Amino acid sequence: MSSIKPNPVPRFDLEAWRSEIPILKSFIPLNNCSHAPQSSRTRAAVETYLDSWDRDGMDWDRWLDEVEKAKAEFAALVRADPDTIAISTSVSAATASLASAFDFSGARNRIVASEAEFPTVGQVWRAHEKYGAQIDWVPVENGIIESEAYEVAIDERVQVVSASHAYYQNGYKQDIGSIAKMAHSAGSWLFVDAYQTLGTCPIDVNVLDVDFLAGGTLKYLMAAPGIAFLYVRPSLIDRLKPALTGWFGRANPFAFDAKSLDWSSTARRFETGTPPILNSYVARAGISIINEIGIDSINHWTRILQTRLIEGGQARELEIHGCTDVDRKTPSTAFICPIDSHCIEAGLRERGVLASARGQTIRLAPHFFNTLNEMDDALDALVEVLSINTRSQK
Ligand SMILES: Cc1ncc(COP(=O)(O)O)c(C=O)c1O
Repeated sequence: MSSIKPNPVPRFDLEAWRSEIPILKSFIPLNNCSHAPQSSRTRAAVETYLDSWDRDGMDWDRWLDEVEKAKAEFAALVRADPDTIAISTSVSAATASLASAFDFSGARNRIVASEAEFPTVGQVWRAHEKYGAQIDWVPVENGIIESEAYEVAIDERVQVVSASHAYYQNGYKQDIGSIAKMAHSAGSWLFVDAYQTLGTCPIDVNVLDVDFLAGGTLKYLMAAPGIAFLYVRPSLIDRLKPALTGWFGRANPFAFDAKSLDWSSTARRFETGTPPILNSYVARAGISIINEIGIDSINHWTRILQTRLIEGGQARELEIHGCTDVDRKTPSTAFICPIDSHCIEAGLRERGVLASARGQTIRLAPHFFNTLNEMDDALDALVEVLSINTRSQK
């Protein structure tokens, strides 16, 4: 009897899904923490909009209906009611809109933010210092944050705790459930930027007990830039009135009354102007791929892929930044580069591997469509590119 263990396989038809992603014929896309590839479904969505525009000149009813459908697709992903979701154009804009609804003039003026925030989120909070906000940072040490570090920082003067679900630099995932408990026991709200985790693992806003959650679609959600979503806890919607607003935030955007500042009773009150129509088509198509395959099946397969990457990287003596425990990570693994990581990214591209340079690391981030062999091939290419570039820069 052979003692060789069979290779694990995904719980979905990998080959069928791969055939929907044309770039797989020429590249191994492992840049999913930066931008996922185009699929035939997202391309068809763009064409649907272009055809409608070309054929009908304009069709606002159909186009705004598509925006609502994109919202519903995202809501299904995070197990929320579509009325608790606002559409925005970026996580930056969504965070700015939320921040503009907070009041920092009283005693509860502190914001506790993690050093693992994507810069844009930290920058939005900092911009509110002029309204009285005081920011304190929870430190990242050795590429990770211990949840206990929040305990020290949170007190009853904290209005909002800002904790990115995963660190963009190396995929380290924070324990949002326990941060939520700490925030709420001090009477603070919890804002989570889930851009790096959406599409990689189950996210249920009720289970995580978050007050606000934001994310865009061009990473693991298989879509494009120009659209983002903001979840707002239903019981908070009525209490918040963002200063960053516009006609789509009104009870009836088509009332056309410049003097009226009424508020939508839904999270739409966090919207501003004409929504991103074309991007809604693409977003709905991309997120529908994730919902159709099923987030549990994607999580199962990407954990297997990242285990192969981590163990294969260690066997090849590559140095990994931060955490190597797949229970605490997204699929993104950051390998430390002794030289400019952009040279490494370029060298990998020449060898057919799409990776993402970030600071002193090169990130390899597989998604549901990748194979185990691709992990081995990418690691071999990385070893080669690192050794060529290290020699030439000595
Ligand atoms: C965790 C995270 N948040 C936010 C962003 C940027 O968001 P946006 O450009 O939509 O503002 C990124 C990456 O680009 C990210 O990785």
